[in-house]
Amino acid sequence: MNISEIDTVALNEEKCVVDIIDQTLLPNEIKIISLSEKGPMFDAIKLLQVRGAPAIGVFAAMAMYVLAERSSEQTLAGFNSEFASNREYLNSSRPTAVNLSWALKKMQNVVDTTENSFDAEYNDSEMIKKVVEALHDEAVKIRDDDIDTCRKIGEYGASLIHDGDGILTHCNAGKLATVRYGTATAPMYLAYEKGLDIKVYCDETRPLLQGARLTSFELSAAGIDTTLNCDNMSSSLMKAGKINIIFVGCDRVAANGDTANKIGTSLLAIAAKYYGVPFYVCAPYSTIDKATATGADIPIEMRDPDEVAEMWYEKRMAPTGIHIYNPAFDVTDHKLITGFVTERGILRPDEL
Ligand code: MRU
Repeated sequence: MNISEIDTVALNEEKCVVDIIDQTLLPNEIKIISLSEKGPMFDAIKLLQVRGAPAIGVFAAMAMYVLAERSSEQTLAGFNSEFASNREYLNSSRPTAVNLSWALKKMQNVVDTTENSFDAEYNDSEMIKKVVEALHDEAVKIRDDDIDTCRKIGEYGASLIHDGDGILTHCNAGKLATVRYGTATAPMYLAYEKGLDIKVYCDETRPLLQGARLTSFELSAAGIDTTLNCDNMSSSLMKAGKINIIFVGCDRVAANGDTANKIGTSLLAIAAKYYGVPFYVCAPYSTIDKATATGADIPIEMRDPDEVAEMWYEKRMAPTGIHIYNPAFDVTDHKLITGFVTERGILRPDEL
């Protein structure tokens, strides 16, 4: 099985389940898991079996459809209350990526508008059937839009890449973080498809190693020249003149352009500014949250300290009893961002 050929998140219509590549097992094992119940769906997001802002959004939409299709509620009131409770439950799984609440709001909107568009001519079970059909169509649309959006981000982003370029990226904003192509990796895939000679450097991305386990895996599987470096090596690559451009993804962009992305992104942007390396954030428009004024208003997820001190090691690699700081994301100041590569074009922070 080649990772390039499998969608990260897929709706299995026949079985009425959501299929995902279990990303916690990569790169050692490519395993598809099928989810049909809310508990395992919540855990899949929380435990990063599915991760990356757009993939989480697509997954949540499909999950809401599957739960609705499988609902045993007979009355519209019961169905609505179960739907709202499932939506709130999934929404509480991770706080930073706005795509999760964005997709869940879209699904809720489908329920509300479908119910309002038919009046008394339908009984409850007919109405529930109509709503479930509409939820299916919305989930499929969110998936198709994601594929289309990433392809467009790739086309705009590839226009910034020159033959022979060294490109740096952080975390995984790759195909594994979307359905296909990725956001930050889409320009790389398209530049490679066009025959440009590129060399991609992947920050390892402590503590969960998304760069090592996921980005270097998917890019090398696609045939791209890929080099892995620890996070603390990227400024030395810039100083050595090996990096011409940086592409990263994002979990939420505030109205002023401040951008939350994987922890370590802001350090990279600061170094890029110092060394004069263009720093681009690849962002589907759904990740731009106009309701959040600045980066200071973005909620930052704090994760288990064991991810820093124990996970990945045979033995604990820090003394017991010490405090451990483990935020999953940081906020890059908009002044450090050269531009946002979106499906609508390349925009400066003040043009969002
Ligand atoms: O904690 P993760 O692995 O979900 O963090 C992912 C990132 O920070 C990505 O860069 C971001 O979600 C964009 S994915 C296109």
